[in-house]
Amino acid sequence: MAALLVCSGLMAFAQTKNSCLDCHSNLPEPLGVSAETYSQNIHAQKGLTCAACHGGDASTDDPEKAMSRAAGWKGKIERKQVPELCASCHADAERMKKYNPSLRVDQFQQYKTSVHGMKWAKGDSKVAVCTDCHGVHDLRAPSDPRSTVHPTNIATTCSHCHADAEYMKPYGIKTDQFANYEQSVHHDAMVVRGDLSAPTCTTCHGNHGATPPGVANVTAVCSNCHVFQAQLFATSPHKDAFAALGLPGCVTCHSNHAIKHPTDEMIGTGPKAVCTNCHTAGDAGATQAEAMHNQLTELAAAIAASDELLGRAERQGMEVSQAKLQAAQAREALLKARVTVHAFRDSELKRDTDAGLAVTRQTHAAGEKAMEEWKFRRVGLGLSVVAIAIALVGLGLYVRNLEQQ
Ligand code: HEC
Ligand code: HEC
Ligand code: HEC
Ligand code: HEC
Ligand code: HEC
Ligand code: HEC
Ligand code: HEC
Ligand code: HEC
Ligand code: HEC
Repeated sequence: MAALLVCSGLMAFAQTKNSCLDCHSNLPEPLGVSAETYSQNIHAQKGLTCAACHGGDASTDDPEKAMSRAAGWKGKIERKQVPELCASCHADAERMKKYNPSLRVDQFQQYKTSVHGMKWAKGDSKVAVCTDCHGVHDLRAPSDPRSTVHPTNIATTCSHCHADAEYMKPYGIKTDQFANYEQSVHHDAMVVRGDLSAPTCTTCHGNHGATPPGVANVTAVCSNCHVFQAQLFATSPHKDAFAALGLPGCVTCHSNHAIKHPTDEMIGTGPKAVCTNCHTAGDAGATQAEAMHNQLTELAAAIAASDELLGRAERQGMEVSQAKLQAAQAREALLKARVTVHAFRDSELKRDTDAGLAVTRQTHAAGEKAMEEWKFRRVGLGLSVVAIAIALVGLGLYVRNLEQQ
């Protein structure tokens, strides 16, 4: 079916007379548009010729007639004309319905609410217009992995401007978003591991309506995916305290673009802890932060000790598979505890860590028991070796005695 669709698309491309392409595919840059490039274009695949955007008459080989103003030829399309050109079809529900009734037609309307669109309306020609994100003659549908707006490519597309300090100079905003995002857990999940459920620039900012989320909405952005942390944060002492200070929720501790994998060092009063940015030694927050850090590290250490002991017993050939299975519950309790951190109450965290510690006490005991049994067997084995050796020596003496006689 998919192959058939591609075929019919390519046939539409091949069948429609497109004299513009015949001629321009032989012209040098910037006038050249190769047939290969244009065949990738979603518009070409839907049977649209160059004239759909540029006007003119694509059915004649005579350049005078093809590029005549009388036939609607527009000449060079300026950047500031692009959004309205694209919108002439994409905001026209009647027209688009004939091709694809499920395709949204609100891109231009959304664009006008974005920082890009608002500045464009005021005559700024450096902000992103449709073609900066989508490309022009090789424009592909977003679902195509080679599209500039496919999720794995979006960060690079935005970075063409937002990581260009020279280009962005007049606006006085930072240009480190891409460099920071590139180091984040989200980039790692999305681009390195191909996990399309991770966020890229447009997940947090919107695509056509791209704006900064604003203090009030940041937690809402993160909580779309990190539901449990958000629910706990909403019950925590920080919710109202941060709101009163005008601080956004999650990104105050995690940052927005450079989100790293958090560790137990992030909580407490140590050098890598975020808590000491606001709490000072002795206040209720610092005291609880310290307590929570200790609860987490105590459980982590207990799990490590139990794992080490069970591993040792296993290597000696002892049967500990039941205890190893049980130890998984302790690891789960630790994972849960690292989420429960977001309630920012040591009593609540303690419930999770205590549950984990109860398990490690049992698995540790099972490990100790296995090792004792191993030692007992080893002593038993040693004693029997000695007994056999004595018997052998005795036997040897006896045989020699017999031979001498
Ligand atoms: C027989 C060859 C030929 C055909 C057919 C032709 N063009 Fe051109 N086109 C040219 C050449 C040569 C130029 C550059 C000449 C110039 O700058 O005046 C050009 C220039 C252009 C430009 C750039 C204008 C600018 O000012 O930057 C556009 C856009 C364009 N053509 C679109 C089209 C479209 C659309 C069609 C079909 C409807 C078409 N052409 C048909 C040869 C052709
Ligand atoms: C989806 C709309 C669309 C289609 C279809 C399209 N173009 Fe364009 N074209 C544009 C836009 C918009 C620009 C302006 C450049 C930009 O925004 O980067 C442009 C730029 C050009 C230019 C460069 C003009 C210059 O001076 O830089 C040429 C030449 C051109 N197009 C020819 C063609 C030819 C030939 C075809 C068909 C093979 C074609 N275009 C199909 C939208 C389109
Ligand atoms: C002449 C009308 C027309 C113009 C002008 C036009 N488009 Fe399209 N566009 C279409 C049609 C028709 C489709 C195919 C819709 C479908 O069948 O999915 C399409 C498809 C697309 C798609 C892929 C949608 C998808 O998810 O399948 C994108 C992206 C797109 N156009 C962007 C643009 C941009 C950007 C411009 C301006 C440079 C533009 N279009 C100009 C008619 C037009
Ligand atoms: C800042 C970058 C950016 C700009 C500017 C932009 N787009 Fe998009 N556009 C995207 C992204 C990203 C997607 C993919 C959305 C997705 O995967 O859900 C997209 C998707 C689309 C689609 C596919 C259907 C849909 O809505 O998801 C169409 C059609 C489209 N854009 C047209 C336009 C038009 C027309 C303009 C100009 C008025 C425009 N875009 C401006 C980034 C942009
Ligand atoms: C063609 C260059 C260009 C591209 C590509 C581009 N932008 Fe922009 N963007 C700008 C400019 C210029 C501004 C205006 C900066 C300002 O006034 O603060 C801007 C503003 C923004 C703002 C508002 C910043 C603020 O605090 O004012 C956001 C958010 C944004 N862009 C996100 C994106 C995203 C996401 C993408 C990719 C999908 C993208 N942009 C692609 C040029 C671009
Ligand atoms: C996980 C969500 C998230 C992702 C992914 C993300 N941003 Fe942001 N971005 C934010 C938040 C939150 C802010 C701060 C907004 C505020 O204070 O209102 C921000 C601010 C910005 C700003 C305003 C200037 C600044 O630095 O404060 C720009 C521009 C921007 N981001 C562009 C990008 C680009 C480009 C990408 C992709 C490379 C990206 N963002 C990825 C959440 C995100
Ligand atoms: C579109 C969904 C989505 C959004 C929105 C989102 N994230 Fe994520 N986040 C993920 C995915 C997927 C991972 C990767 C999990 C993994 O490593 O397997 C992740 C990982 C993380 C991690 C690291 C977890 C770990 O164990 O290493 C943190 C911290 C994080 N996100 C915080 C945030 C914050 C703060 C925001 C808001 C600014 C946010 N996320 C927005 C999906 C999202
Ligand atoms: C006051 C600081 C702070 C705030 C606010 C905060 N976090 Fe965290 N977050 C932490 C700390 C500390 C950890 C590390 C826990 C650990 O590994 O011991 C963490 C860990 C995480 C993790 C990884 C959890 C795991 O499974 O290892 C994610 C995801 C996360 N936070 C998301 C969020 C989201 C979403 C928000 C907003 C609703 C948020 N955080 C608000 C401090 C904070
Ligand atoms: C951006 C500043 C900031 C950061 C970072 C921060 N806090 Fe807080 N925290 C506050 C404020 C403000 C309050 C409410 C006033 C108060 O009690 O000090 C508060 C209150 C608390 C309370 C309640 C104290 C009470 O009075 O019962 C606890 C517990 C707490 N924080 C723990 C933490 C932990 C753990 C971290 C690190 C993971 C942390 N905080 C990071 C600002 C912060």
